[in-house]
Amino acid sequence: MEDKLSKIVSLCRRRGFIFGGSELYGGLSSIWDYGPLGALLKKKIKDIWWQEYVEKRDDIVGLDSAIIMQENVFLASGHLSGFCDELIDCPQCKKRFRPDKAEKIKENLYKCPHCGIEIDRLIYKPRKFNLMLKTNLSAVEDTPLWGYLRPETAQGIFTNFLNVINTTHKKLPFGIAQIGKAFRNEVTGGSFIFRMKEFEQMEIEYFVKPEDADKFFEEWVEERFNFYIEKMGIKKGNLRLRKHSPEELAHYAKSCIDIEYNFPFGWSELEGVANRTDFDLSSHSKVSRKDLSYFDEEAKKRIIPFVIEPSAGVDRTFFAIICDAYSEELVKGRTRIVLKLKPELAPYKVAVFPLLKNDTRLVELAKKIFCDIKNKINTVYDDTVGIGKLYRRQDEIGTPFCITVDPQTLEDEKVTVRDRDTMNQERIEIERVYQFIKDRLGKESFVS
Ligand code: GAP
Repeated sequence: MEDKLSKIVSLCRRRGFIFGGSELYGGLSSIWDYGPLGALLKKKIKDIWWQEYVEKRDDIVGLDSAIIMQENVFLASGHLSGFCDELIDCPQCKKRFRPDKAEKIKENLYKCPHCGIEIDRLIYKPRKFNLMLKTNLSAVEDTPLWGYLRPETAQGIFTNFLNVINTTHKKLPFGIAQIGKAFRNEVTGGSFIFRMKEFEQMEIEYFVKPEDADKFFEEWVEERFNFYIEKMGIKKGNLRLRKHSPEELAHYAKSCIDIEYNFPFGWSELEGVANRTDFDLSSHSKVSRKDLSYFDEEAKKRIIPFVIEPSAGVDRTFFAIICDAYSEELVKGRTRIVLKLKPELAPYKVAVFPLLKNDTRLVELAKKIFCDIKNKINTVYDDTVGIGKLYRRQDEIGTPFCITVDPQTLEDEKVTVRDRDTMNQERIEIERVYQFIKDRLGKESFVS
């Protein structure tokens, strides 16, 4: 399975999905850049989520709040005091590790995950590290004004709760959705884009009456689980739900269920759906001294709403989609790598090639077909290598259809259309080719 991980990392790099952050200067640990194809796939994931929850529903509104927030926000949210990892410094290899994630040999005795020696936590006491990244907002260095890069997009939603209510006049139950960057100074990185210092979240804070919280919690778990299957094309057998034990619940949560994916390194969290109760709104009311209650017209009293939070990671969704779509097949004694992406997610839906790159008539006709289609659907033109390699390239990036212009095309005005998954090839009239692809892809692929 680890082997699968290195193949996926290699494909992502080779085909321009993901590069190391600051790679030119030796890189930065747990920081990654998305290349041309990665940017397209990532945008698609976010677009589908936004369409599903903001555009198609009238009980959820969108928000785009600032990344840098005031210290008081995190005093109220509990992140200043509670958002910490315990770390032990290994006396032998000098690397750090989290005891809660390391192998425990017996009471207080841990195995260093880097060099394998046994460490007694009573002698080598763990130290607490706050995960938030701090930045100086003052122009003068000796009088700093500290701001924090948000560790979750949620806090921008809570601090804007009143603004949103006052401007949209939403009534309970309603949600505020946000997609954006979050930052955590993760000390233990690894596993590619699974744990990053800079990552992106898609979060909804769904405000409900306290007595309705359990019902909406269940509904959101089911809704989000199905989203991964129906909208992201992930196989049901590679997804499962895991309830948090009381000890692992975040400081703000009464209950939480993780949606986990069967990554090459094992089952791990893709998304958490939490019942955050009235913790955040109550806490912000106290610290800001502003009333963040809501007037319940039926009960004729003011209440602090409870909040159900489905919190998904864009990067982990991206990672799970690639892992799930990755496949290898033996074709005529050679391994064919195919990314069997749901067509709606594929960075390109169509690739157009001339069979012979030195034949100007074929090149011109292929470019004309490319220009006709590219404004309607994500299409790429390529003539930089031979036809076999061109197909392999498109298979590896998950392009559902390849159109090839060959010498016969000049006579019968038909092109070859090749299907990514079956490798079947059909001769289709040039004037019908767009409609042919459109019929097979389904309308969702055409949403920009
Ligand atoms: N607002 C709740 C919250 O932030 P979380 O479980 O800490 O909860 C939610 O994070 C999601 O954000 C995770 O399920 C994961 O998909 C993503 N995430 C969290 N930390 C991450 C990291 N360091 N790198 C990549 N994704 C991360």
